[in-house]
Amino acid sequence: MTEELIRNYWNARARGYAIATVNDADPEDTRRWRGVLEDVLAPLEDKADVRILDVGCGPGLFSLLAAERLPNARVTALDGSPAMLEELKASAEARGLLERITLVEGDAGTIDEEGVYDLVMSRNVLWNLPDAEEALKGWWRALKTGGTLLTADGNHYRYLIDATHAAAVAAKPAPKSHDPKIFGNVDPAVMAERAKTLPLTRELRPDWDVRILEGVGASIASLSTSTTPAPDGSPVVTDFTLIAKKTA
Ligand SMILES: C[S@@+](CC[C@H](N)C(=O)[O-])C[C@H]1O[C@@H](n2cnc3c(N)ncnc32)[C@H](O)[C@@H]1O
Repeated sequence: MTEELIRNYWNARARGYAIATVNDADPEDTRRWRGVLEDVLAPLEDKADVRILDVGCGPGLFSLLAAERLPNARVTALDGSPAMLEELKASAEARGLLERITLVEGDAGTIDEEGVYDLVMSRNVLWNLPDAEEALKGWWRALKTGGTLLTADGNHYRYLIDATHAAAVAAKPAPKSHDPKIFGNVDPAVMAERAKTLPLTRELRPDWDVRILEGVGASIASLSTSTTPAPDGSPVVTDFTLIAKKTA
């Protein structure tokens, strides 16, 4: 079951996060994510009954884009926050996609399906999980042989433990989802305090992700990173998108 503090935090952020990423998203961001997903969705367009899992779907940016792009797909959208799922439900209904998006309140850390999905995708979720390694291995098991995993995430709380990273991100503009108007009355310190003891805060990513995935036999199909300069000019990785194939 999703930890209470984490669930409450995301319940409180659901409305603002939906506004920032779906309802009133920057069209340039949406266009960019549509392009990222195209690499994993286009190969599925002629396949019958495609099954997709969006882990930690939030208000549904990925679920909605995938269901829109592939009329032959059914998307399982799983999240631990009921308020996030309500946001996705409203958006899916408004776009006529709800019939092909199944909403599941569940724990991203304990996916127990095996060999079910053609595509498992997730954005900005692993960093938030108390046992990220077990979670990622569970996502991998949920894939069919021949399936694809797309995970987009970042070193979001590394600033807590790495002064160079902290200096680099301090010089960068905050994302729209962190705009105080969007954040509402949620106290960001609550998650920052929790993140101090989350395992991925202390791991350099995407190196960690590559290591865990290669350990389960994944072949890394593509990896792209966004960087920002540290005060000495060296690049620090803020975000990344990794695509891995399950060939056996
Ligand atoms: C940063 S938001 C990302 C939402 C969505 N993937 C997106 O990119 O717009 C993190 C999401 O992960 C969900 N989450 C965090 N821990 C979870 C857990 N253990 N099980 C299921 N969902 C979880 C939160 O409820 C929240 O919706």
